[in-house]
Order: sequence, then structure tokens, then C-alpha cells
Amino acid sequence: MQKFVYTLSIVLLLSSPVFAPNSFAAFPDEDSVVSKNFKQVGRALRGMRSAETAEDVAKILKKVKKFSSKNRDLIPTIMVEGTPQVGEYQKGMDEFLAQVDKALALAEAGDKDGATAIVKKFRDIKKGAHDHFNVEWRK
Ligand code: HEM
Repeated sequence: MQKFVYTLSIVLLLSSPVFAPNSFAAFPDEDSVVSKNFKQVGRALRGMRSAETAEDVAKILKKVKKFSSKNRDLIPTIMVEGTPQVGEYQKGMDEFLAQVDKALALAEAGDKDGATAIVKKFRDIKKGAHDHFNVEWRK
């Protein structure tokens, strides 16, 4: 009996979230094209800090659009092709791309502040999507 209780507690311990983080979090393959494209999106957006003109902002948004559009049609490594989750992901990317287009149109019309106000919301969109899909970052 004592041995049984001992074995059971080991099994319970090893199956706990502390020892099995992947049951809750999904770690993308960092070397995948999808991951690299998302990193390019992040890199482009960091350029907002030094953007001076509406034209600068438009240039950044074109890069964001280019890499996000590619990812819209790729399967993230944390997902399985043909599952409903991929459809949800594509819907989320379409919504994000619609915001990118809206901001780009304003930037191209010379409205730097209007475009920047939309770009400021990207952080929340990203956070919402990453939380939803349990995208986890390596330490
Ligand atoms: C400002 C916008 C965004 C930025 C800067 C961004 C950034 C990133 C980065 C850097 C990664 C790579 C993580 C790694 O390799 O460990 C990533 C992964 C991911 N992101 Fe985002 N993201 C953004 C928006 C979105 C949106 C709108 C969605 C979905 C609707 C999304 C869904 C995902 C998914 C599913 C992955 C995992 C990729 C994989 O499995 O290969 N992201 N993101």
C-alpha cells in the first residue's frame, strides 16, 4: 500500500502543469518561416519610434502588411492543418490585416497621427491573439 501511494504521488507530480507545461502552452518553432515572418512584423513596428513623417509610417506599414499577408496563408507550427483552429487563425489575421490597411490608407493620405493611433492598438491585438492561441515564448 505504501508503495502504491508513493507511486501514485510520483505519477500525479509528473503529470502536474509544473512538469508538463506543454499541455497548456504552445511553443512555436522559432526557425519556421511563420515565426520569422512574425519577427519581421515586430522588427518593422519597432521602427515607429523613429518614424518622423507619414511617409515613414507608410513604409513601416507596408512591411507589416507584406509579412502578415504571407503568414495569413501559412500554417503556424503550433497548429494542425485542416483543423478549425487554422480557420480561426486566418480570421484573426484578416481582422489584423484590415487594421493594417486602414492605418496604411491614412498614412498614405498624409495623416501620421491617425495612422499612429491605429498602430498603437496592434499591441493589444497581438496580445489578444497570442493569449487566445496560447502562443508561448521561450525564455
Ligand atoms: C503586431 C502584431 C504581431 C506581432 C509583432 C507578432 C509577433 C509574433 C512573434 C515574434 C512570434 C514568434 C514567436 C516564437 O517564435 O517563439 C509570433 C508567433 C505567433 N503569432 Fe503573432 N504577432 C502579431 C500578431 C498576431 C496575430 C494577429 C495573430 C493571429 C490572429 C498571431 C498569431 C501567432 C501565432 C499562431 C504564432 C505561432 C507561430 C507558429 O506556430 O509558428 N500573431 N507572433
